[in-house]
Amino acid sequence: HPVHLKDYRPPEFLIETVDLCFELDADRTRVEARLALRRNPAATRGDGDLRLDGEQLELESVAIDDQLLTPAEYRVESESLIIHRVPDRFTLTTRVTISPSQNTALEGLYQSGDMLCTQCEAEGFRRITYFLDRPDVMARFTTTLIADTERYPVLLANGNPAEQRTLDDGRQLARWVDPFPKPCYLFALIAGDLRAVEDRFTTASGREVALRIYVEPHNLDKCDHAMRSLKQSMRWDEARYGREYDLDIFMIVAVSHFNMGAMENKGLNVFNDKYVLARPDTATDQDFQGIEGVIAHEYFHNWTGNRITCRDWFQLSLKEGFTVYRDQEFSADMGSRGVKRIADVRLLRAHQFAEDASPMAHPVRPESYIEINNFYTVTVYEKGAELVRMQAALLGPERFRRATDLYFERHDGQAVTTDDFVRCMEDASGCDLGQFRRWYSQAGTPVLEIEGHHDAESATYRLRVRQHTPSTPGQPEKAPLHLPLALALLDAEGRELALRLDGEDEAAPAGTRVLELREAEQCFTFVDVPEPPVPSLLRGFSAPVRLRFDYSDVELMFLMAHDGDGFNRWDAAQTLMQRLLLRLVEDPAAVIPESFFAAFAQALDDRAGDPALLAEVLTLPAESYLGDQLAVVDVDGIHRARCTLERAIGARLRDQLLAVHAAHDDAGPYRLTPEAIGARALKNRALGYLLAAGDAEGLARCIAQFEAARNMTDCISALRLLVDHGGEAGLEALSSFHTRWSGEPLVLDKWFSVQATSPRPDTLARVERLMRDPDFSLRNPNRVRSLIGAFCNANPVRFHAADGSGYRFLADRVLELDPLNPQVAARLMRALVRWRRFDAARQALMRAEIERVLAAEALSRDVYEVAAKALEE
Ligand code: ARG
Ligand code: ZN
Repeated sequence: HPVHLKDYRPPEFLIETVDLCFELDADRTRVEARLALRRNPAATRGDGDLRLDGEQLELESVAIDDQLLTPAEYRVESESLIIHRVPDRFTLTTRVTISPSQNTALEGLYQSGDMLCTQCEAEGFRRITYFLDRPDVMARFTTTLIADTERYPVLLANGNPAEQRTLDDGRQLARWVDPFPKPCYLFALIAGDLRAVEDRFTTASGREVALRIYVEPHNLDKCDHAMRSLKQSMRWDEARYGREYDLDIFMIVAVSHFNMGAMENKGLNVFNDKYVLARPDTATDQDFQGIEGVIAHEYFHNWTGNRITCRDWFQLSLKEGFTVYRDQEFSADMGSRGVKRIADVRLLRAHQFAEDASPMAHPVRPESYIEINNFYTVTVYEKGAELVRMQAALLGPERFRRATDLYFERHDGQAVTTDDFVRCMEDASGCDLGQFRRWYSQAGTPVLEIEGHHDAESATYRLRVRQHTPSTPGQPEKAPLHLPLALALLDAEGRELALRLDGEDEAAPAGTRVLELREAEQCFTFVDVPEPPVPSLLRGFSAPVRLRFDYSDVELMFLMAHDGDGFNRWDAAQTLMQRLLLRLVEDPAAVIPESFFAAFAQALDDRAGDPALLAEVLTLPAESYLGDQLAVVDVDGIHRARCTLERAIGARLRDQLLAVHAAHDDAGPYRLTPEAIGARALKNRALGYLLAAGDAEGLARCIAQFEAARNMTDCISALRLLVDHGGEAGLEALSSFHTRWSGEPLVLDKWFSVQATSPRPDTLARVERLMRDPDFSLRNPNRVRSLIGAFCNANPVRFHAADGSGYRFLADRVLELDPLNPQVAARLMRALVRWRRFDAARQALMRAEIERVLAAEALSRDVYEVAAKALEE
């Protein structure tokens, strides 16, 4: 049954305080909950009954004001506990039993290795105890944990530590008090034999905060980067948003079985260990950056999510969109801003645009859902971040800061809506964002079609801008959006013109200018433009739209070489490569123009240029993204075209690529600076082209790099290339890599992924063999993602094999996984939802597999929703 935004009603009861007592045991944990409840004066009166959420709980007793109820006084249903005729204010005490070791869904309280941990967002708390499991019920929590001292020496919960003592029976007790009211999805507890890396932080106002990162003992040597990232995040949030931390202690725990990335529980962030643990020899540059970004993201949630939370789950982007925007800006400040923007836009275009073009398309603020876990999407997160970014651009930095200050002041301690957020933007700035609000409710990727006309006689340049948004499921009609269009006009030397619009008294200083679009069609006439300029449009990707402008190849090469906006230089190169690749898809014999090689040779020769940006420029658009540009995805044609171009580049630019590889082969100590990261990326890109071209010297260098590498970036890049292009050398490398890293699960994940994503024809057979590897387990989400997820989402040519074997493999895995872990199963299922984008034969095969999944008995809500929506007309 779907839940609808329009049905929102305030809760009938409020909970002021919660006293939880856990007697922890892996098989049978007892939970006592004392809730101080009262009727909500702001609620419309219902039937007067109290209805609490609860799932898979074994109820032992219920008491009101310490009087035990008889079974006639309440009713237990599969997902709730209903108590009739309760007073207006009372204490409810329930006792339940739960089983962490049987909890394979990893939602609620579960076992990971030898530790016990929790994941409550979105609706996991109801698997721990009976509660009003909705974010607009905010309560003050006290948590008492009792457990065997040997097995569980460390006992953690939200807030500040209040008490710890040994009991007479070999157990110990720890009590935690969280002074801040919070919704129950932010509850967390941890019990285990853990060690902590400790540090301290003094806030701007002088508060001392203890910092601890808890890991299993053997991982203590992999926490430095996470700790550094945490302290940098805390400092940055003070400087950029004036936000200080508010408890005496901040803890992070690394867990090896985790459905998502991490969770911002108040004072006790729980992480997928992939986003904590790193050493140069075990983690890639990308892993290090992922850790920095996710640590920041969860920390930033303390204000954008915890102090101010969501009224209901339709408002998820209130906290996620804003927090992603904040972590993106943080990472931009810590590393290379230009490269960060490219990475973010690449992700948005590859996944969010694809989601918008799929049966799962939904607005940033969805209207309805069957299973909320299915709505932790790139649309809610990444497009949501773009909406905040656009508002920041429309307001400008000073007014945006004033608006966020107002937001924190006005809504601290409240559960609010995306609309409340936008109202703060308006109230603090005087901007009218009435039309802008449509971005939250309207799904789909807008298309901007721009045409430029130069008139020599009047020395004017006119831009005609049209916008439209293709329809999405349930939203056939779309209205025009308000958006910032950042642009510059370049003269023949690449200089930015001082822009004056017709009717303006004076020109703005030369550089980027932001135009505001509101209409379906608008014209802008620039005066004093004697020569035809080249427009640099949508600079920095100022709005999440598809831009269409009819550039010539020559103009794109000009922008690639001269645009002052690094993002647009990269984007021009991408457009150029995309064009060339699509031409090759259509005609495999098409000639690659000399000018193309010349442009890339020039970029490679630019010694003064930023190697990181150059590495991005040299990265071909992904196969799936190229598929999105076609009316019907041509799986094999795209793969072939990409191989052809890679081979051609590798052969034609061989000497330069070898020189680039040698020039950036760093021998010194590992550094995580943008320059060092850029150098490694560029060097490995160069190697990639050489191996694609079958270059013998390249292969020799690759083998040498694999053997000598002291950092995981160089090691895994070489391994991947050897597996794809090195024949026998690839098999040897895989086996030595496995021997070397058999004790490090996160590194083993890479070993699985490299094999699962290889375009070699025998990959599916290999994946099936790896499913039976003793190191493989369906119960570990990281392992599932590294093998099954990698094959289905990052290996289009093999997943979409014409015989349907990839589809069958996926559906089998979904059916196998669903009874264990519906959330992860539903994620995998998404690989099939875009079936209508393919040719008739593949459509039929994909559709049949979706139908087979739908026909299964006892399907979870999670998988059901994805599969059912995939087939909706
Ligand atoms: N709030 C967490 C984060 O963004 C993610 C929680 C995801 N929960 C889920 N049910 N998928 O950092
Ligand atoms: Zn988040």
